[in-house]
Amino acid sequence: MSREDPDFLRELRGPSAAADGVFWQTERQLMVFDAEAAARVNAENFAELTLPDRLADLLRRRSSTPVSWKQVRSVWLARLRHLAGEDGLAALDGRMESLLRARLGEHVNLPWLAHEVTFRSLVPIVIDGLPARDRARISADAIAKLARLLGEAEEDPPLWRAGRPLAVQIRAGLVVRKELRRRARRRGPARDDLTEPIATELLDALGMDRAVDAVTAVLTAIAGPPGAAAACVLYALVRHPEWADRVAAEFARVGPGELYRSGTRCVPLAHRFVKEVLRRWTAPTMLTRSVRTPLRVRDHELGVGQHYVVSPAMVHQDPRRWRDPEVFDPDRWLPGAANGPVSGRDYVPFGWAPTGCVGAGLGAVQLVLWCRLLCTAFRIEVTDPAALRMAVGAVPLPLGFDGRIVARS
Ligand code: HEM
Repeated sequence: MSREDPDFLRELRGPSAAADGVFWQTERQLMVFDAEAAARVNAENFAELTLPDRLADLLRRRSSTPVSWKQVRSVWLARLRHLAGEDGLAALDGRMESLLRARLGEHVNLPWLAHEVTFRSLVPIVIDGLPARDRARISADAIAKLARLLGEAEEDPPLWRAGRPLAVQIRAGLVVRKELRRRARRRGPARDDLTEPIATELLDALGMDRAVDAVTAVLTAIAGPPGAAAACVLYALVRHPEWADRVAAEFARVGPGELYRSGTRCVPLAHRFVKEVLRRWTAPTMLTRSVRTPLRVRDHELGVGQHYVVSPAMVHQDPRRWRDPEVFDPDRWLPGAANGPVSGRDYVPFGWAPTGCVGAGLGAVQLVLWCRLLCTAFRIEVTDPAALRMAVGAVPLPLGFDGRIVARS
């Protein structure tokens, strides 16, 4: 269930401020909203990142080959550096543009369109070369997950539909499994995506079920925050037309080729704009973590089996650290701005080490490319601007945001 931004975050800000950013919400769940405490608790909880044993081994009561999650992350990080290079960005931009063109003039829910375009354009980076039917199965699973995330899933679905999300999830898992098996047997060309190193370098150590889980984890990761952030970029462009004009003027001076080559450095204004969108409306709002090892956060003891919640959104709205946190001001990112971050710890749109987002660099450039498309090739037309408002649930979600994307002449 989404709630209005001021109510939801302010409701939590009260106890958070009284307790200096760390307080128990229930007996088993500690809220850790202070920037320093959140960074520390995450680092300690995930200092040891060995994957759990495989299901098959658990059933046979034996241990699996230990694999560190850091190993999986490092093959992905290496590949993403390359995929976020000039050719990769041009291809990503091209995919976003064709997906938008396919929807031109249609009356759509704009946040869902943002989710659709970002997710579908990212899929080939995670798992490329799938036949159309398999791509549709992967998308169906993402849509089911998104519906739950955005709180639009039916609360009381009829019986015949109640099992659907699970069936959809199983079918998507089977697609990933089949593709991993095919690649491990070196059938077909090698693909430049995040599935390839899992299939060709790590499959023996991981085993099939952990390999499927790893690829599924990235598919889940690209099905939420990137689309939520892209929807918030649309919202900010509509809500702040003066900024939309400034950003458009900058894009008019810089060609896409330069953007693919040198990244966001060549468009500092658009870069500040996107940075501020990620601060003001941060997705995901809360991250609930299971305690893996006994922890101490300030005076609070946390035991295995309990949970803590960290929140990039609350860190970004902390009035002890940000001047006027509720004001959208991209210029707070100018060097030396009085309302800028107090320290590097205060800006965490991609989470915390050692589990921080592996796609942070790519995600940030994708948002700038998205912003460029909407400021140069296309225009947003909102059906009822007066109905537009921002809600915050698991992710920020602009409501009353129906309209059309049209081509600029
Ligand atoms: C604007 C876009 C994005 C945002 C705001 C975002 C945000 C996040 C956040 C907050 C986390 C949790 C970090 C933590 O646990 O501390 C995360 C994890 C993750 N993200 Fe992203 N993300 C974005 C784009 C991407 C992209 C493009 C990819 C891949 C191509 C990606 C892959 C992942 C993965 C695999 C994880 C799990 C990391 C782990 O558990 O070690 N993300 N992301």
